[in-house]
Amino acid sequence: MRSEKILDMLNEQLNRELFSAYFYTAMEAYFASQNLDGFAHFFMVQTKEELDHARLIFDYINKIGGRVILKELKQPKIDYSSPTEVFELALSHERFITSSIHEIAKAALEEKDLTTHNFLQWFINEQAEEEETMDKILRKLKFIKEDPSGLLFLDKELSTRVYTPPSILQEN
Ligand code: FEO
Repeated sequence: MRSEKILDMLNEQLNRELFSAYFYTAMEAYFASQNLDGFAHFFMVQTKEELDHARLIFDYINKIGGRVILKELKQPKIDYSSPTEVFELALSHERFITSSIHEIAKAALEEKDLTTHNFLQWFINEQAEEEETMDKILRKLKFIKEDPSGLLFLDKELSTRVYTPPSILQEN
């Protein structure tokens, strides 16, 4: 059973996922400007994933007979002092997204909306992976202390990231 409270929370989450895409596009632009094309590629893929997350929520709201409400997107930060700062911000953003997903899942349980609670399980698992991805790269950046040869090595590694649409989206 859906409630207006859960619909409002899902619409807020839709806005956060769209903002995430905007946020990571700004990071892609920063790395492109630094000629770190592998890092830029990593954030291009990340942006596509965020748009998938937004699409999943968009489709779900429609599926349960709700109304999608698109809201304003704030301007993301566009300048960074270093790659390490970028990944610190990316990790802290993903932690924020995780907590917001958890809040909706908790509210869905309180409202006895088990359908939404079940829908959010995919996002809960996805968020654990998102945090792990950002954290691993951040730890590598700290390990190499942004030494140029280490940065170029990491740039090459990140250039191999492959975009794969979530199977849950392909099923729809
Ligand atoms: Fe859609 Fe990176 O959370």
